[in-house]
Amino acid sequence: MNVADTELICGILKSSRFEMTNEAANADVILLNTCSIRENAEKRIYGRLGSFKNLKVIKPNLIIGILGCMAERLRINLIEEKKIADLIVGPDEYRRLPELIDVAFSGGKGIGVRLSRTETYDDIIPFREDGLQSWISVMRGCDKFCSFCVVPFTRGRERSRNLNSIVEEVKLLSNRNFKEITLLGQNVNSYRDGVYDFADLLSACSQVNRNIRFRFTTSHPKDLSDKLLYTIAENSNICNYIHLPVQSGSNRILELMNRTYTIEHYLNLINKAKRIITDLSFSTDIISGFPTETYEDHLMTLKIMNEVKYDGAYMFKYSPREGTKSYKMNDNVPEEIKTKRLQEIIDLQQKISFEKNQQLVGNEEIILIEGLSKKSDQFLSGRTDTNKVVIMPFEDNIKEGSYIKVKIERATSATLFGQFREFIYPTENKLA
Ligand code: 5AD
Ligand code: SF4
Repeated sequence: MNVADTELICGILKSSRFEMTNEAANADVILLNTCSIRENAEKRIYGRLGSFKNLKVIKPNLIIGILGCMAERLRINLIEEKKIADLIVGPDEYRRLPELIDVAFSGGKGIGVRLSRTETYDDIIPFREDGLQSWISVMRGCDKFCSFCVVPFTRGRERSRNLNSIVEEVKLLSNRNFKEITLLGQNVNSYRDGVYDFADLLSACSQVNRNIRFRFTTSHPKDLSDKLLYTIAENSNICNYIHLPVQSGSNRILELMNRTYTIEHYLNLINKAKRIITDLSFSTDIISGFPTETYEDHLMTLKIMNEVKYDGAYMFKYSPREGTKSYKMNDNVPEEIKTKRLQEIIDLQQKISFEKNQQLVGNEEIILIEGLSKKSDQFLSGRTDTNKVVIMPFEDNIKEGSYIKVKIERATSATLFGQFREFIYPTENKLA
């Protein structure tokens, strides 16, 4: 989401009078787009700011700006108490960046931290480098107020972009030969544009170009609709892959987290989705060590992982965030227990990923070729519908952006290895 926002910010600045440089030493303005989701994310930003401060000693007129969630969360604190930044701009005030940079250039402090109920940046075209994969933000903010989460406070109320403007953006990406688009929102299931819901949006996007595959993230388990499941099933270019954060396997913890569903509801949803969509895979988010989490609660999390057998998981230690509801609860799971439980969760996921990948050996899979393998130019790297990396021997006329069928020959927990079978797209390609 921050990468998408950074592209938006670059779009705004480039259409003003700014140029980008990749060399911090050449810059007159350095902007850091920040995340507040866990304390570690913020710690990393303080580290980066430290190194930019040294640049400021050499170049006193250098403007340092903090954008995004940290700007919203810490506001003028960062300017007045910590004296770190000249510019503080939250996620809903990026339009004012050119003006606020001017304020900073003329010696003032550029501050824009108001949250908006309407800003969606619908009319702004993000600046994107050429490539195969891209993101489109379809909505901003979140109204869910999970008790651990700072997002509703830093990114404000939920609001959706206009369906037509998103479809137009897909067309632009299609004309530039992008091959994979991920629709983004904190909870895409709440997307609304008049009578249109997220299923309508996804369906409209997928019809623009059948050779682009579509992903989306994130779905809240409370309101993933049957209509969305049927839309995925009916459109072959929508990936059979759903990111469905469970957070915990314990109903007691889910309630304290204000997730508004039970594990029974969650499992029913997974089973229903599997009935509607063949070869469907899931990934998830898990938090270990939420306040009051007992060993039994933790075992329930391991149990749900064993039941669903996720293809992938993002796994975190609970991190108390000021201003959230759970911040007022006692963060009473000791750090070493959080670490131990998290490690058990990671180990189990690795075992599950390994087993799931072994089951694919012997199968034929369609992959999108992304380019040369990172480790060797003798191999090509691609990705399945379900987001798994596949490595295969290099062939001269298999180009980046082609869809091909491969036979999977072996697998580790993170990677599949296969052999070329046939071209799917473009169909006119032939092996020499
Ligand atoms: N501590 C740990 N993990 C968190 N997440 C959100 N807030 C916190 C927090 N305070 C995780 C959730 C969410 C993902 C984006 O980040 O699992 O789904
Ligand atoms: Fe945070 Fe919950 Fe909204 Fe996700 S759904 S962004 S975890 S409040």
